[in-house]
Amino acid sequence: MNMFLLLLLVTYIVAMVNSLFAYNVPYNIKQQFLDTDKPLNFTAHARIYGQRAVEYEVQTEDGYLLGLHRIPGRRGLPILLMHGYTDTSDTWIVRGYKSLGITLASLNYDVWFGNIRGNRYSRRHVKLNPDKDASFWDYSFHEYGHYDLPAIIDTILSKTGSAKLNAIGHSQGNTIFYVLGSTRPEYNKKINVLTALAPICYLNNLPPPLSKIELYGYEIIGALMKLGVNEIFGDVSPSGRAAKAICERPEVGYAICVLGAIFSVSGYDAEEFPPYIFDVVIKHYPAATSRKNFNHFWQVAVRERFSKFDYGPEKNYVEYNSTIPPDYNLKAVTMPVVLIAAKNDKVSLISNVEILNQQLPNVVAYKIIERDLTNHVDFVWGSNMYEYLFPYIFAILRNFQ
Ligand SMILES: *[C@@H]1O[C@H](CO)[C@@H](O)[C@H](O)[C@H]1NC(C)=O
Ligand SMILES: *[C@@H]1O[C@H](CO)[C@@H](O)[C@H](O)[C@H]1NC(C)=O
Repeated sequence: MNMFLLLLLVTYIVAMVNSLFAYNVPYNIKQQFLDTDKPLNFTAHARIYGQRAVEYEVQTEDGYLLGLHRIPGRRGLPILLMHGYTDTSDTWIVRGYKSLGITLASLNYDVWFGNIRGNRYSRRHVKLNPDKDASFWDYSFHEYGHYDLPAIIDTILSKTGSAKLNAIGHSQGNTIFYVLGSTRPEYNKKINVLTALAPICYLNNLPPPLSKIELYGYEIIGALMKLGVNEIFGDVSPSGRAAKAICERPEVGYAICVLGAIFSVSGYDAEEFPPYIFDVVIKHYPAATSRKNFNHFWQVAVRERFSKFDYGPEKNYVEYNSTIPPDYNLKAVTMPVVLIAAKNDKVSLISNVEILNQQLPNVVAYKIIERDLTNHVDFVWGSNMYEYLFPYIFAILRNFQ
């Protein structure tokens, strides 16, 4: 062979191999880069990791159509994973082979991935048009727990013939189970055990910048109402498009969106969430929520109570027969709950998880992750959660058969 060609070939191979190790990118994430100019949907994304996912459509009692994903398996009870605030089912697989969803699927569990109303997979209703009807967005985490979860759970139980399931919820994804257990107590027995990652119930004494958002919440919500903004961070909403436009800017996206926004809200932890992971995550996050949901969480923070939505005295009286909104009765949440919190989580503060721990009647385990830097988003996006978190989850699944 011609020396020159040989040299070229060797150079080429060396360059290829080098590029594989550039930034120390794990091969699973590298693989994703090949085909994610556009965000892959859940099923296409799962295929990259050799998993065949299926999608079901679930209809709620009040007419919302929700996308429910499943990677079928044969081991143990079905497992339902519920994503957090402005997130989707994608969150459980964006970390590839190191994500909880793909890991549980490779262990042959029957894994189900829920999506709450209004997000990318659930922006549909039998009558209402999300782009035209403001009433489509007239919901908060109350409706996620009171309508969406029962429809999702009943679909899973009827498709599998199982009487119970194991649930794992991240952030708002566990809040909605407290709503479910207190407003529809008959569902407690359908939950074998709820594993609450970064538990969210009380939002007292939040640190900055959330405390600042809390301080100006009234003005923010007022301005959004004036502008007629019902949907926040949706793919086609101005807030969602602006977030994507900024965060996907190559040089500055990570600095502005991760260092400036995500870490400042959730806790700083660059080690677990480096730029190359962010590049994948930002193709899937954020997803829509309603202004009313933001408002409801704001009320929980300001009023320091886990209560139903506060409409003001007059409408409260009509809705609740009381001028102040009633608290959710946490004593009625009798399902077994495992609380898993983290020390550097600036949204789910340990002090607030302690209150929840005291008020829930059936906390079967309460765990604080040892690693000091673990923050609110590491639970789903962290690089090494297979080491810091997954062993506890496997133990729970073993001990609660
Ligand atoms: C997901 O994406 C794949 C590939 O683009 C496409 O073939 C499939 O129809 C999509 N699935 C859904 C439910 O939209
Ligand atoms: C409304 O509240 C009052 C006072 O607490 C109570 O006496 C009454 O029974 C309630 N009515 C309904 C319909 O629940």
